[in-house]
Amino acid sequence: MEIIVIGAGIVGLAAAWRTAERGAGRGVRVTLVDPEPASGATAVAAGMITPVSELAYGEEPLLRLNLASRDRYDTFVAELEELTGTSTGYRDDGLLQVAFDADDLAVLDDLRRFQASLGLPVEALTGRECRRQEPMLAPGVRGGLLAPRDGSVDPRRLTAALLAACEKAGVTLVRRRAAGVVVERDAAAGVRLEDGTVLRAGRVLLAAGPWSEDIEGLPPGTVPSVRPVKGQVIRLRTRVPFLRRCVRGLVKGSPVYLVPRADDGEIVLGATQEELGFDTRVTAGGLWELLRDARELLPGVTELEFAEVTAGLRPGSPDNAPVMGHADLPGLVLGTGHFRHGVLLAPLSADVLSALLLDDPVPEVARPFSPDRFHAGSTPPRSTPPRSTTEVNR
Ligand code: GLY
Repeated sequence: MEIIVIGAGIVGLAAAWRTAERGAGRGVRVTLVDPEPASGATAVAAGMITPVSELAYGEEPLLRLNLASRDRYDTFVAELEELTGTSTGYRDDGLLQVAFDADDLAVLDDLRRFQASLGLPVEALTGRECRRQEPMLAPGVRGGLLAPRDGSVDPRRLTAALLAACEKAGVTLVRRRAAGVVVERDAAAGVRLEDGTVLRAGRVLLAAGPWSEDIEGLPPGTVPSVRPVKGQVIRLRTRVPFLRRCVRGLVKGSPVYLVPRADDGEIVLGATQEELGFDTRVTAGGLWELLRDARELLPGVTELEFAEVTAGLRPGSPDNAPVMGHADLPGLVLGTGHFRHGVLLAPLSADVLSALLLDDPVPEVARPFSPDRFHAGSTPPRSTPPRSTTEVNR
């Protein structure tokens, strides 16, 4: 059977690899179509693996999905690193979330109660205890929460490893844009490239992030709306120890995070969250807000070397949760809408999407995230509406 994956972001890459690997010996051939693999949100992302620290109210089913993926991470990266000899920069040594003022501390305290009500292991720390954990924190930091099992990975190294693993597993990479899905006898039958070439397939996975809706040839309503949500990110570099682990902070209500790599001095500072359509311009205001808030928490941040600034587009579904399941069109599987959790959800998405493509049993935890939930009369897994369309809201 021929399977085509449209989109080589982290979700498409992980799914293509797992499908080729599981399909070996079952006559399955996988083709991955993308003009520039691993170049979208994946290349911009800091790589947070933070199901506990980034928990949001009303998102309990998403938390279960995120935790299930987090629990797969160490074996996922160990397998990839052994297979490819590429280090992924994975670390699971916790995230410290800190509060700048008393109001921020009250928000963290509410979050801690919510996390505790769900049985999540989080430790409340005083300001002094936070500074003992991270000596570079400002003297005024009021207190914080330590989520001991949250962590991070370097998405650029992870996707390099995934590309190498795909090659080893026999995945054919087509560096062209997929313009449309070929539909024959009311089923997906292949992919039409931008130059008109048709690649035939029995199954197609659409994992094109915020571009998923642009794919031509599909009956209206086949793909739920997936909107781009811009994130601006700054990469800094240090030659001396600066942070021991990931730090997330609330500064007068604004969240900001810093993700240090364990071995190469990179520190990723992110991220804005802007609803501006397909706009990837880096703005003075976005960068200023990130640096302003980071400096309130860690005054020494301005001494770090500047390395890079980028902006990417997170794919946001109507309920901000991933869309993974069979589409209404036979032969088409959807794997999009991972929003703020694409990197975190890569291992589980690989398992879920390969199972869907190969007709294997799908992990139960993913059932609430099928596209069926957007059909009239269905109950979505969570009820948080998308954020406002203009506000820069980190
Ligand atoms: N998960 C971090 C972000 O989306 O900015």
